Amino acid sequence: MNSIDLSGRRAVVTGGAQGIGLAIARRFLESGAQVAIWDRDDDLLPKTVGELAKLGHVEGVMVDVTDWKAVEQATAETVAALGRIDILVANAGVAGPTVPLVDYPVDAWHEVVAIDLFGIYHCCRAVVPGMVERGYGRIVNVASIAGKEGNPNASAYSAAKAGVIALTKSLGKELAAHDIAVNCITPAAARTAIFDQISQAHIDYMLSRIPRGRFLELDEAAAMVAWLASEENSFTTGAVFDLSGGRATY
Ligand SMILES: NC(=O)c1ccc[n+]([C@@H]2O[C@H](COP(=O)([O-])OP(=O)(O)OC[C@H]3O[C@@H](n4cnc5c(N)ncnc54)[C@H](O)[C@@H]3O)[C@@H](O)[C@H]2O)c1
Repeated sequence: MNSIDLSGRRAVVTGGAQGIGLAIARRFLESGAQVAIWDRDDDLLPKTVGELAKLGHVEGVMVDVTDWKAVEQATAETVAALGRIDILVANAGVAGPTVPLVDYPVDAWHEVVAIDLFGIYHCCRAVVPGMVERGYGRIVNVASIAGKEGNPNASAYSAAKAGVIALTKSLGKELAAHDIAVNCITPAAARTAIFDQISQAHIDYMLSRIPRGRFLELDEAAAMVAWLASEENSFTTGAVFDLSGGRATY
């Protein structure tokens, strides 16, 4: 494993109670950062924080990222606990139903976009003022290959993730005059609890589209995010980093 220096950095990882976010939180702690995990899972969050505590300073903050007031409150709690926020990984997300657009329940469509797009907007909106004030920040938004390609039977998810890509490009340009980098990643399928939300046929479809012929490993995602979140990533901003095992070559 290459070492990436995040020593002294204060990081927020949303949706870090499990899955990709947990792998990122672990890698950040191993790289010397202090980490606040924001998640809405009140059962899993304390367990994860307890397990990670041996690696360094980690806080758990209960928050639903769809609720702007709650995100403001989580930001204040994190700043009180860690002093500031240098790094945001906006990762919390859901897959939602995997059904054709015409059969997609309207409420579920709204909910997927509320979490996967508005949640990211809320988190960026809350942490950016502090980053601008201090003249430093690294933001990594977790989009998906579905946002580049559009997966059938995943219209809400694909649309929300395409929105995350565009938000990242826009915010990256807005903040480019500061030492603040805003980038996003577009993973292909990785085996996490999110698979419980989607049909086996959809999982098979996603795997069949990956030229490497396997799922993304969580540590592979964490490695890329750790570098994007580091001081060494001092030039690239507003960019989309592929993690699709060859599916998207653009
Ligand atoms: N696993 C994959 O195949 C895959 C592929 C591409 C992109 N992604 C993206 O990666 C991110 C993480 O996915 P994962 O596979 O680790 O999923 P996961 O289900 O394992 O973890 C998601 C975490 O987000 C939290 N969360 C969900 N909604 C929330 C909300 N409203 N407020 C706060 N926390 C919330 C959950 O409690 C959970 O702990 C998501 O944005 C997902 O879309 C995943």
